[in-house]
Amino acid sequence: MLEAFLYVGLPYLALALLVVGTAYRFVFRPYSVTSLSSQVLEKRSLAWGSVPWHLGILVVLVGHLVPFLVPGLWQAIVASEPVLLAVEAIGMAAGVMALAGIVVLLVRRVLVARLQSVTTVVDLLVLAVLAAQVVLGLLVAVLHPWGAAWAPGTLMRYLHGLFTLSPDLGLVSEMPPAVKAHVVLAFALFALVPFSRLVHAFVVPVGYLVRPFQRVVWASARRAESVAVLPGGDPEEGRRGLMRGLAGVGGAAALMAVGVFDKVARFVKGDDMTKAEKEALLSQKLERLEQTAEQRALELERMRKELIPIAKLGELLPAAGKYFIDFEMRAALAFKGADGAPILISAKCTHLGCTVGSQADEQGRILCPCHVSYFDIKTGQPNEGAPAKTPLPHLGWALRGPDGKIVAQKPAGRALEGTFDPSLADHEVCVIRDTDRGAV
Ligand code: HEM
Ligand code: FES
Repeated sequence: MLEAFLYVGLPYLALALLVVGTAYRFVFRPYSVTSLSSQVLEKRSLAWGSVPWHLGILVVLVGHLVPFLVPGLWQAIVASEPVLLAVEAIGMAAGVMALAGIVVLLVRRVLVARLQSVTTVVDLLVLAVLAAQVVLGLLVAVLHPWGAAWAPGTLMRYLHGLFTLSPDLGLVSEMPPAVKAHVVLAFALFALVPFSRLVHAFVVPVGYLVRPFQRVVWASARRAESVAVLPGGDPEEGRRGLMRGLAGVGGAAALMAVGVFDKVARFVKGDDMTKAEKEALLSQKLERLEQTAEQRALELERMRKELIPIAKLGELLPAAGKYFIDFEMRAALAFKGADGAPILISAKCTHLGCTVGSQADEQGRILCPCHVSYFDIKTGQPNEGAPAKTPLPHLGWALRGPDGKIVAQKPAGRALEGTFDPSLADHEVCVIRDTDRGAV
């Protein structure tokens, strides 16, 4: 019940608040859509906080958005080990930078006396929650590394489920506590947006670069005098400083993004390409389209049928598993057991959802490379001390003759029905739709 609220109710509530509340502020209170700059009151520590915070969090959020929007492309990118390493390192560095920035911003609000009078409880709450969210994100990245590889198959699928109105609670409820807390706090933050200055995130302030200067003129003559002698009072100098700062920030962001978004850049500058490059790009696009079409065809087949053929019985091997897609569109593996009967087992790691390797070791175990969990093919059980705590579920199978007749079948967790003969090498092994995944 609590889980249903946290991972389904709260997200919808938060998203509804975010959309309705933000729209309300834009339409009915447009002048409240601002971050209420405090630069005029204190600017030294603001720069040390605001720049690293915004730069860091932008990189982090791009790293969250891309796998959410284009999970297939993302998985293809991080499939290469050096790229995965680079992505993780960039994410971590950006997270640390954002954390340093938000701590400065938080301390500044609490300690600088003249800011206290313009700081509300909500301001402090938002800064504290943001800092906590960044700490949790870093904790997830440290405790459960390679998130760029495991999250698309689990957390991003959960988010897609939310947005397509078919949320799958299971994808998040079995996650470790730090991951769950990170998800819940993210939605709490979304809910806070319309009630706080976070709403300014929806205004991209590019107009500020070209708009005329606005000078702040103090009404008190004494104050005006003291400000006049402060360094940096020249507006032209201020503009140049801003431009230099922006150029620096832009350069750093570009450098960070180069490796990861190389493919995107190539796609954008398509016109400068040679004929051979264009051909390669087109065939890549075609391949992607074919993959999508293939995926949809698989989904349709799984919706319509009760049996999905995997391989001939004679093709199954004891140590080299054959991958297939099960009825839930998740990766699974087919092996030949010691008695010659098929063993169909989920290949989706029960730790954080990475795909388990297909090659069994001499003890009959398959390895999840993400955080090293070995699963016994026969029992599905992970090795002792493995990060994964629950077994990989087995799937039911049926053996179908060339005439289309089922000669034997073994639904998961139930006894064999019919007579199994290991010599029926030309018979097709099929996975059967059954809800009772789990037991051998
Ligand atoms: C307000 C929204 C959020 C903020 C500010 C935030 C912030 C962060 C930060 C700072 C990190 C560590 C740096 C990194 O590895 O990228 C991180 C990691 C992570 N976040 Fe978030 N996050 C937010 C929402 C979410 C949501 C909604 C999800 C998924 C449902 C999510 C999933 C993850 C995962 C899986 C990692 C680990 C990435 C890795 O190890 O490569 N985050 N987050
Ligand atoms: S995802 Fe962590 S061990 Fe498999």
